[in-house]
Parts: sequence; C-alpha cells; structure tokens
Amino acid sequence: MSKLKSKTVYLCSACGDDHPKWYGQCPSCNEWGTLGEYKVAKNRKKGGNGQPRDSRKLADVLHGGEVNRIPTGISEMDRVLGGGLLPGSLILLGGNPGIGKSTLALQILPAIQKPVLYVSAEESEDQVGLRARRLGVNSKTLHLSSENRIEGILDQISLVQSELVVVDSIQTVFSDELDSLPGSVSQIRECGQQLLQLSKQRNIAVIIVGHVTKEGIIAGPKMLEHMVDTVLYLEGDDRHDHRVLRSAKNRFGTTNEVGIFQMEAGGLVEVDNPSELFLAERQDDITGSTIFPSLEGSRPILVEVQALVSNANFGTPQRNVNGFDFKRLAMLLAVLEKRLGTHMGTKDVFVNLVGGLKVDDPAADLAVITAVASGARDKLISESVVLIGEVGLGGEVRSVSRLDARISEAKSLGFKSVIAPAANVKRMKKAPKGIKIFGVSNVGEAFQHLF
Ligand code: TYD
Ligand code: MG
Repeated sequence: MSKLKSKTVYLCSACGDDHPKWYGQCPSCNEWGTLGEYKVAKNRKKGGNGQPRDSRKLADVLHGGEVNRIPTGISEMDRVLGGGLLPGSLILLGGNPGIGKSTLALQILPAIQKPVLYVSAEESEDQVGLRARRLGVNSKTLHLSSENRIEGILDQISLVQSELVVVDSIQTVFSDELDSLPGSVSQIRECGQQLLQLSKQRNIAVIIVGHVTKEGIIAGPKMLEHMVDTVLYLEGDDRHDHRVLRSAKNRFGTTNEVGIFQMEAGGLVEVDNPSELFLAERQDDITGSTIFPSLEGSRPILVEVQALVSNANFGTPQRNVNGFDFKRLAMLLAVLEKRLGTHMGTKDVFVNLVGGLKVDDPAADLAVITAVASGARDKLISESVVLIGEVGLGGEVRSVSRLDARISEAKSLGFKSVIAPAANVKRMKKAPKGIKIFGVSNVGEAFQHLF
C-alpha cells in the first residue's frame, strides 16, 4: 500500500480555515473549541495546477458581450438563479434531508441540450434511473454515475465532456489523498476546492448538493458558502407540500428572488400563483384573520395572518408565533397595550402565518397587530381588505417598499380595499382602479376603518 503524502493541519469546523497548530480559539473566526486535527494532501499546490493564468483587459471582457446563460426549463429555478445557469459557476443547493434536492436537481437536467453528468454518490445509477422514470425525465445527453471518489468524478467529467455537473451530495464524495471520512470538514473542503478549480478552468457549471441538519451544525455546507458563487436553499416543512427555493448568495443575480414549488407524486411542480395556494383554505367568518401582501423577492404573495387570543390559565401568559419574528410580536403586543388600550397582560397569544411561509418583512406589522386586536376584541375584519404597513413604537404606521406591486396582486385576487401607510399613498402618482386605498398614519386610524 502506498504511503499517503499528508501533513497535519488544524481545521476549524465553523469557518473552515486551517492553522498549522492547535488553538483553543480559532484565530480566524474566534470560535472556541472548533479546531480539529486533520490530514491533508501534502503535494497539492495552492492556487491551481501550477500553470500561470493569463490576465485579460477589462475592455476585452466588456466587449465580449453577455455570457450565455443556460436556461433550466424551470422558470422558478431560472428566476432564482438570475436567468439560468452561468457557465463556469459553482452553485450550492442546500436543504434538509428529504426536502427534494435530488428531485429538483434531476428535474432541471432534461432541458439542457449539452452533455450533463449527474453524479449520485448516494444512490446507484439504477436507483436514479427509476427516479428519473417516475419524474418523466428523459434526456439523451444526461449521463449518470455513482462514483464517489473526487478523482474519479473529475475523470468522468473529462470523459463525458460535460458542461454541467451535479454532485449529489458533497457529504458522500471523498478524495483518495486524505484519510479522513467522507463528510468531514477536510474532505468537504478538499472536494469543494477541486470542483471550484475545475469549474473555473473548464468553464462548466457545477451544482453541489449539500445536506443541512436541523441545527445547521454541519460545517460543510456553511463552509462551502464562502467558496461557491451561488447558494440556493430549498426550504419547506414536513407538514406542507410546498417548497420554497431561496438564494442566500448570488454573485450573478439578486438574492431576494424565491421560487415556489409543490411536491407531488410526479416531482416538484412550479406554482404559478402562490397567493391562491396560500389562501385556498381560508375561512372568512373567523375573528383574528387578516391578509398581508408579502414581498418575496420581486414577487408579491398574499398570506393569511391568524391570531388567537385567549385568557391565560397559568401565571405567565403564553406567546407563540409561527412564521413571524417573536420579538417583533412582543413589540406589537406592547404597542397594542400602551397605545391602543387593549389589555394583553393576561392573555395567551398565538400567531400563525398560514402555509408555513416565513416572513421577515416589517410591512407585515399592521396585519399582525390587527389580527391580534381582532382576536382580542372578538370582532371580524372584512374578508376583502388587505393590510400593509410597518408599525413603530409610537403606534405610527410607516411607509413600506413597493406598495404598487402589493396592491396589484391584491387586486388581481379580488380584494376590494387596502389599508396602507399614508406616506406611501400620498406619494402614489395615480390610484389604481377597482380597489379602494385608505392611507393611515397610525394604527388607531386603521382600527377606525376596520372595527
Ligand atoms: P429527495 O429529492 O430524495 O430529497 P433530498 O435529495 O433533498 O434528500 O426527495 C425526497 C422526498 O420527496 C421523499 O420524501 C419523497 C418525495 N417525493 C415525492 O413526493 N414525489 C416525487 O416524485 C419524488 C421523486 C419524491
Ligand atoms: Mg438526495
């Protein structure tokens, strides 16, 4: 057996940096107790294959024109990517196990008319084939491989001359040159680095699939985030069929676009009208329900906010919230108590954004505070009104971004009136037809319209 040429380094499981000796606290990221001993290949040169790369003039690059992006045939995916896959880019597709990463990765491949290599180190070619049949994926240019050595994968890529490679997943591939286990920090870093070099040298797009645990403790994908050009997360929960594809980092596009899918028997299906999906089961005769046009990227999505307020049976009242920031809710309850005279001190409050969507847009404040007030006062809110506005500590309603887009989404779904920040309404050039807009400058004014 050949002796491995390796040296010992101390890798940080939080930031992925290596250090020649052990420290209790990582000198790079200041985390304590994260350094572990690893063997890394000694003969690998830093920064490529030793060949100097030529520099180019900016003018040449600019006159080279737009790079052709490769459309994936799934418009939700393309939008999140910023218009398709860019040759030479490295994309990390992360998410909890079983959320649908492999399904999504396989579904985007048939539209690509170029040689594609799908490396599935988790499943055999036959298993992937079965899944492909179930998904109705058919492609003449798609090659499957269940290789899990990174060296073998690189050979396959040259053999197939592929222009897109999917590595599913990074936790299962390993390099011969290291003697640590697949999925360890050093293996993930080494394999990620090799794929990065390859994608830049050969100008091919590489999608790396990575599992994230619930606690987010796997250092792998987090560490890879620094390395790759684009980070996509597929989110959702077990109770719901819809999945949200979000980009957390994108060197070649915006990061606030989302793609919405529904997991069905035949795989992930794009959702063209998410508002309808989220409002489908709405009951309009219960108190504590309001509608908020949330902005997910450039797209407005209507979500229902539900609040249940009841008398607390035990000493400390409970506050429970789903899909909205807990501290923000506490602030809104204090505003409700102090500025609007609704006593919350002895009440349990439960707030839920229906459908499992998470919203961290302050424009949701008005819809949340109104839902709670409606629950506490046992008064119905008209089913045809949507509420938009950030609420300040004084109970004032502050302006929000892109009011027009939110209003037109509400209008297209048949809502009749909007309560919006007065400052926004004043700035509007022309009022949209078919929907009434009420500008309010504080929560009290909004309540006067509603109760
Ligand atoms: P998968 O893509 O294997 O998840 P990941 O790669 O993120 O671990 O998807 C697994 C789940 O998706 C599994 O619970 C079954 C479900 N699923 C469907 O509902 N329909 C389908 O067509 C497929 C392929 C999977
Ligand atoms: Mg998988």
